[in-house]
This record gives sequence, C-alpha cells and structure tokens, in this order.
Amino acid sequence: MYLHQLFVLGLLQVLGAHATQFLDRNLAYRSPFAEHPQLSHNTQEIQNRYLTHARRQVTDASFKDDHYPTFYGGEFGNSPFIWSGGINFTHSVASGDPLDTSVLLWTRAVPISPAGTSELPDQSVPICVSYKLFTSANLSGRPIDSGTAFTSYDVDFTVKLEATSLKPDTKYFFQFSDCTNPSLVSPIGTTRTLASPNTPARSVNKGKPLSIAVFSCSQFQAGWFNAYGFAAHNTTADIFVHLGDYIYESLGNGARIGRQVLGRELATIRDYRQRLNQYRTDTSLRALIRCRYLFELRDDHEVADNSWKAGTADSNDTAAGCAFSPSGACFTDRKLAAVRAYHEWMPIRQVDLRDKLRIWRNFQIGKLLDLTMLDTRQYERDITDVYYNTVVNTIAAFNNRSLLGATQEKWLYDTLSKSKARNAVWRIIGQQIIFTQLQLRESFNLDAWDGYRANRARVLDHLYKNKISNTVILAGDSHANWVSDLAHPNDTSYNPATGAGAIGVEFAGTAVTSGSSFGSGILPADADKMSRELVGVNADLQWSEGSFRGFFLLSIDADTLNATYYGMRNISFANLEGFPTAHFVVKNGENKLSRPVAGGTVGAGVLKSSL
Ligand SMILES: *[C@@H]1O[C@H](CO)[C@@H](O)[C@H](O)[C@H]1NC(C)=O
Ligand SMILES: *[C@@H]1O[C@H](CO)[C@@H](O)[C@H](O)[C@H]1NC(C)=O
Ligand SMILES: *[C@@H]1O[C@H](CO)[C@@H](O)[C@H](O)[C@H]1NC(C)=O
Ligand SMILES: *[C@@H]1O[C@H](CO)[C@@H](O)[C@H](O)[C@H]1NC(C)=O
Ligand SMILES: *[C@@H]1O[C@H](CO)[C@@H](O)[C@H](O)[C@H]1NC(C)=O
Ligand SMILES: *[C@@H]1O[C@H](CO)[C@@H](O)[C@H](O)[C@H]1NC(C)=O
Ligand SMILES: *[C@@H]1O[C@H](CO)[C@@H](O)[C@H](O)[C@H]1NC(C)=O
Ligand SMILES: *[C@@H]1O[C@H](CO)[C@@H](O)[C@H](O)[C@H]1NC(C)=O
Repeated sequence: MYLHQLFVLGLLQVLGAHATQFLDRNLAYRSPFAEHPQLSHNTQEIQNRYLTHARRQVTDASFKDDHYPTFYGGEFGNSPFIWSGGINFTHSVASGDPLDTSVLLWTRAVPISPAGTSELPDQSVPICVSYKLFTSANLSGRPIDSGTAFTSYDVDFTVKLEATSLKPDTKYFFQFSDCTNPSLVSPIGTTRTLASPNTPARSVNKGKPLSIAVFSCSQFQAGWFNAYGFAAHNTTADIFVHLGDYIYESLGNGARIGRQVLGRELATIRDYRQRLNQYRTDTSLRALIRCRYLFELRDDHEVADNSWKAGTADSNDTAAGCAFSPSGACFTDRKLAAVRAYHEWMPIRQVDLRDKLRIWRNFQIGKLLDLTMLDTRQYERDITDVYYNTVVNTIAAFNNRSLLGATQEKWLYDTLSKSKARNAVWRIIGQQIIFTQLQLRESFNLDAWDGYRANRARVLDHLYKNKISNTVILAGDSHANWVSDLAHPNDTSYNPATGAGAIGVEFAGTAVTSGSSFGSGILPADADKMSRELVGVNADLQWSEGSFRGFFLLSIDADTLNATYYGMRNISFANLEGFPTAHFVVKNGENKLSRPVAGGTVGAGVLKSSL
C-alpha cells in the first residue's frame, strides 16, 4: 500500500468521528470569524462538495484521474479525496501571535500540474498539508507538535493553524509537507513562544533584553522593503510588530524602480488576495516573516484610504460611492473583502469568533510587559477627515466622538489597569496613528488622535488618575519620525525641558517605504528645517525627523526600555544599508524620555533640546 493510502486510511478513521475536522483545523476557513454568512465558510458544505465529487469519481466510469488517492471502504460516504499531483508552497511560511504555549503557523499550498504534464490541477478536491514543529534547527528528534489540515481555493490555498502544547519562551523550527508525498516540503520557519504571564520580569527571554522591531506603511510601489531585510539580517529583533498599512489598495506607479503593482485599485476579494500575494513575493518581507514571528495590526490602506467604520476617502457608502469603486463594490462590501483576505494571509489570531471586526488583543509577556494591540481604524471609528468634509474641524473635540468605540475603549482601560495590578513592568500600546497633539503650521492631522481629542483625553485621564506608570505608545501611519513625552496637550504642568509631569512616552515611526509627509523624497537638510519649526511649536515633541524611511527597534528589560531608530540609505534598489538615526532611553518609573533626550545627539532630524 502506498504511503498516501495508509494516510488516507488514517484520515478516514478520524473523519468518521468528525467529518470536517481537517477543514476546521485550517483557521483560514473561519476568516475572519465564525457564524457570519459573508465572512466565514461553512466547512460542512465544503466537505459535502468533496463527497459529491468523490461519488462522481466512482460512479462516472469516464472520469479517470490518478491524482486523487482514495479509499473504497464500506463507508464510502466518508471517503476523503485529496490532491496528490504535487503542491507548491508558493509563499514560504510565516508565524504569528504566539502565546506561552501556542503559536499560529502559516503557509500557502497550491496544487500544481503533475510533473511532466500540462494537466490543470482539479481544484474540486482538498489539498492536504501536514506540519511538524521541532526544537532543533535541523528538525531532528521527535516533533514537539504535528498535525494535518486541508486547504482549498475557498481560502486562496492559505493554511493557518495553531501549534499547541509548546513550552513557554522557547524557540521552535517548523515545516509543512504534502500529506501524499512527505518529501515535498516547505522552507523551514523559525518561531517562538512567549514567556508565561507569571514569569518574573528578569527571567523573560532567558534574562536577555527582549527586542521588538516596529514597522508601518510599506507601500510596494514606493520602494524596496530594505527596512524589513535590515531588521531581519542586521538586528537582534526577537519580535516584529507591524502597525498597519502593510499593503496599499492604490495602484500607483513603481515601474521606475521595478516595483509595479499588479491588478487595479483594490475592491473585490480577488483584488485584495492578488495584492497580498504580490507583497509576499518580496524577499526582504519573506526573510522577515520566515525567521521571526509577527504581531500585525491594520490601518486604513489594508482596506482603503482614510477609512473609518462606515466609509473611506475613496468612496461613500452610497450609490455614488459604489460607482466610484472600480468594481462597483460599495464600501461595506469592499471592507468585507479586504478583511477576509487579510485574515487568510496574516498569521493573526481571531480573538473573538463572534466579534466581526475585532483584531484588538493583548499579549502578556511575563511580568516584563503587556503588548496591547488596538484597532483605531476599522473597528468603530467615527467619521474621519476624508478631505472634503471640513466639518471634522468643528467636531474634533466633541465628547461623543470615539476613535476606538465604546467596547474597545473600555477594554483598553481594563487592560491597562489589569496590567498594573498584575505588576507588569511596561505597558506597550501598539496602535496605528499619532497620539500626541501635533500642530503643523496652522492645522492638525484630523485623521490622527488630534481629530478625536476627547477620546485622547480619556486615555490620558485613565493613566494619570490611576497612576499607571511605564506606558509606551507606538504609532505609525504618518511617514515620519516623532518622539514625545506623553502629557495632556497644552498642559503647563508638563515641563518640556525636564519631562516632569509626563505620564509616559510615544514612539512614532516613519514608513518602511511610503513617501515622507514632509514631501516625498525630501532631503535631510530641508526636512530638518521643518523639524526645527515643529519641535519649537509642539511642547511634548522632543525629536522630529522627516527624510529617512526606516523602522525602530525597542530593547526592553526590567530597568530600561530603549528605542533605536534606523534610517535606510536608499530604498530605490534592494540593499541592507541602514544606520541608527537616534537612540532613546526610558527608565522604569520615570514616565518620560530620559534626559538628556537621545543622549543629546542624533544622527538625523532635530532634537528640541538642540534649539
Ligand atoms: C511555485 O510557485 C512559484 C511562485 O509563484 C513559481 O515561481 C514556481 O514556478 C512554482 N513552481 C512550480 C513547480 O509550479
Ligand atoms: C541536529 O542538531 C542537534 C542539535 O540541535 C544535534 O545534536 C544533531 O547532531 C544534529 N543532527 C544532524 C543530523 O545534523
Ligand atoms: C462623498 O460624499 C461627499 C458629500 O456628499 C461628496 O462631497 C464627495 O464627493 C463624495 N465622494 C465620493 C468619492 O463619492
Ligand atoms: C455630540 O455632541 C455635540 C456637541 O455637544 C452635539 O452637538 C451633538 O448633537 C452630539 N451628537 C450626538 C449624536 O449625540
Ligand atoms: C492647544 O493650543 C493650541 C494653540 O493655542 C490650540 O490650537 C489647540 O486647540 C489646543 N489643544 C487643545 C487640546 O486644547
Ligand atoms: C539601553 O541603552 C543603554 C545605553 O544607552 C544601555 O546601557 C542599556 O543596557 C540598554 N538597555 C537595554 C534593555 O537595551
Ligand atoms: C539611490 O539609488 C539610485 C539608484 O542607484 C540613485 O539613482 C539615487 O541617486 C540614490 N539616491 C540617493 C538619495 O542616494
Ligand atoms: C547588514 O548585513 C549584511 C549581511 O548580512 C551586510 O552585507 C550589510 O553590510 C549589513 N549592513 C550594515 C549597515 O552593516
């Protein structure tokens, strides 16, 4: 008996008990959440589709194909057919959202034409993949965890599953293979689990500082993802966090640098899948996600420009808005498509299977920190600045305006308080948009927290009133670097020179590639002129830099949290040339940037203290 027939025999025994379990094992079918007709798959229906096909195969004598191993046992109704013509792991592997004993593993398994033939793969049978996870890099010894899952065109051949029963704070190596041909394997991925929530702060990461690389705004056509490559190859980052705008919906023109995007402006599920697919062909991005794990958030461009809960700058959810969209899809349909494709391609957890859009979630990394990931964009955000609606100027400070929505806002306060109560040293809030008030000449960016002032005040009030220390807010979205002490805007009890009166720190990072908000391609000297003005006008802002594309790296232990900013030399071709632009220290209990800020000198941009 062939190995795959043995395998199928094994499958059958299990299938008798629970026919859809190999489909259910693939979390992509619950993309992004269960029990919703437009947003999840009925795996029973898919299973029935397979069975119908299987019956056809034996009853219709003219149907002949060797590539579906099957088992003609008594219980034919349960017989699974799986593709055995070979599969292509087209997009390597990835992992994400680890907990202390589990982590999500990801791959994509596409059926290929059997060797030597031009036969098109029949897509009406499931693809079956196995995975194994080991502690040794050469995959020797007994696997720590292993399992099997199906995928199919319904989920763009993505596979997302949870490896469980792992040891906390441990590095693992994993690989997928074709169930019908175990010698056909994916690249080997590296991942890790987090320390258990009760691990003492000084024991997390085996006592070494934990380092987190933070990215945002990676537009394919705007440049090469050198920042990803640099972080993967030239830093010791343990964790990668992307704060959103991981893909862009727009078409743009990257032909000049060999980065043209395929398709059109995104609107349908096919469009979003194609764009995610193309982004994942980037070698720097692959290197990054194959070797470390990822925590992901989405900002507007994962759906559409300046989106909010019911619309975007690109379209209104009206007949006119539908007509504007390239496919005629209304905003709501567009958002559903975007969210589905996102959950298929991103190794992120579905925290609440019944909460449609929820991606906000919290990770307790020992007693060292809580990493609290928010959704300030797609969940419940009230109307934002969509360019023509100047009314946002007048409503920006209304109390009844919410960026997070009531449920998430309450959860944030509870999470921060719980984190303090459990004696976690640091509270790191990963979110999309700039938190600190930033006056830009006469105006504010109303698509940032400046457009939701009461919501921002409530967050700060919660920190001050409950004496919650060591909060560090991360932000992306703005395509420039901004480092600030956290305090109520215009509060004169905060002292910009000493930092006294502050309640934390904000580290906002520039884009991986997207053009500077100071002016696309702006040179350092010109950007610094603007930065000088900005750090002069804005009390809380301690460093501003607007020329370089890049990312920043946090290095955290129980005594200090450091942030080192990196600028990439040139993103118009693939290279690993980056340099530190500034290094900041935050000391446990100080709730401000340590003075002198950045040690008094920076490699780029302007410090307030240098004025
Ligand atoms: C596998 O997929 C990659 C990426 O799409 C492609 O370049 C390659 O030709 C495929 N290999 C086979 C055998 O189909
Ligand atoms: C695999 O790695 C382990 C260490 O993790 C080592 O003991 C073993 O000899 C290696 N096996 C092979 C075949 O290289
Ligand atoms: C959306 O609606 C506003 C207000 O009615 C209008 O000014 C704008 O042109 C519309 N935009 C699109 C893309 O339809
Ligand atoms: C929100 O608050 C403003 C200002 O107080 C008020 O004019 C407006 O009617 C309120 N909107 C709603 C929906 O309650
Ligand atoms: C802070 O002061 C500036 C300048 O007077 C003003 O434009 C801004 O609205 C004030 N911010 C808040 C939150 O009151
Ligand atoms: C933070 O940086 C300082 C130097 O600026 C260094 O002494 C300290 O060890 C660093 N701490 C961590 C956790 O990386
Ligand atoms: C970046 O590299 C390109 C291609 O080599 C070159 O034309 C361009 O001048 C470089 N830009 C900078 C800022 O060095
Ligand atoms: C980053 O690492 C690569 C090789 O891993 C090396 O070629 C490159 O010079 C490094 N970059 C810097 C700025 O050190």
